[in-house]
Amino acid sequence: MSDDASRDEFLSIVGEVSNELAYLRELGVELIDAGGGAGEPRATAPDDSPPRKPSRAAAPPSQSPALRRNAEAESRSPRESQVGEAREESAETQPPRVLYQRATEPKEMATRKPVRTPDPVPPAPQETLFGEIAPQDALSLPRPGETLEDIRRDIGDCMRCPLCCEGRTKIVHSEGSPSARLMFVGEAPGANEDADGRPFVGRAGQLLNKIIEAIGMKREDVLIGNVNRCRPANNRTPTSAEAAICKPFLLREIAIVRPDVIVVLGNTALHNLLDTKEGITKVRGQFKDYKGLKVMPTFHPAYLLRDPSKKRETWDDMKKVRDYLNKSKAEK
Ligand code: URA
Ligand code: URA
Repeated sequence: MSDDASRDEFLSIVGEVSNELAYLRELGVELIDAGGGAGEPRATAPDDSPPRKPSRAAAPPSQSPALRRNAEAESRSPRESQVGEAREESAETQPPRVLYQRATEPKEMATRKPVRTPDPVPPAPQETLFGEIAPQDALSLPRPGETLEDIRRDIGDCMRCPLCCEGRTKIVHSEGSPSARLMFVGEAPGANEDADGRPFVGRAGQLLNKIIEAIGMKREDVLIGNVNRCRPANNRTPTSAEAAICKPFLLREIAIVRPDVIVVLGNTALHNLLDTKEGITKVRGQFKDYKGLKVMPTFHPAYLLRDPSKKRETWDDMKKVRDYLNKSKAEK
């Protein structure tokens, strides 16, 4: 299949998800506001529905046994009661789905494991850019005509995975040009990024800036993001489950921006973004084709800081990216 045809196929899949939501609205299924004010409604799943093909229809929240359980929990412990309160807030202020509890102080490392609340029925897995994703809630799904700002709003004060609660200061969103032809995807924020709320601003980020400039571009021209948007405690590697929860938002950004090339930085980003087990040393420097999007895996700049002799390889990889971008621009 040609690049154009497969990209069209991907975009039509994104469209199908959106159409499904529009169809639910047409059926008059009650949808809860996406957090964007009075406008676009959003869907959510009832807590008390039997297992079934996930529809995102909402039951009246006050009727939910899960809420009754939460009310009972309130009388048990102050930590558990936080969840109950969050669930009884109005639809406008309620976070999409509270799975984990935050440490008392955001900066304090959690000493307890995150506490799971009763699971609502999550939406069905969706086939998307790099395969199937399992969205946590309706706000993880794309909507027609959405913008990068919409995605940020959907992420909200995210508590979908344990990374919310082990010392995160700021959620680090993707940054850069909405019309970028080149995108970089890293693993997860480090300490500097967590403090600033911006990706790749520490030493690895400084090196990434140089890599971008080496191919004649500026940081503002490209899009820079991470598979996971919250800093893991002690810079541990995010688990594949944590990556799977955060990844849908990145895939939606990719679908909006449609960069010509995505450079995947290092093993963790490679494994989690592309659902592969191949090692970066083996696959770096070879363009991968994912449904019409060109992906170039290369070493992570933090790895290059530890072993500067590997910069040569990354430079070779980036020259291929530069040449491809110049060629595809000339063809347009
Ligand atoms: N390493 C990453 O993978 N991402 C950042 O944003 C910073 C360092
Ligand atoms: N291991 C990684 O995780 N990333 C690299 O870039 C190189 C080795």
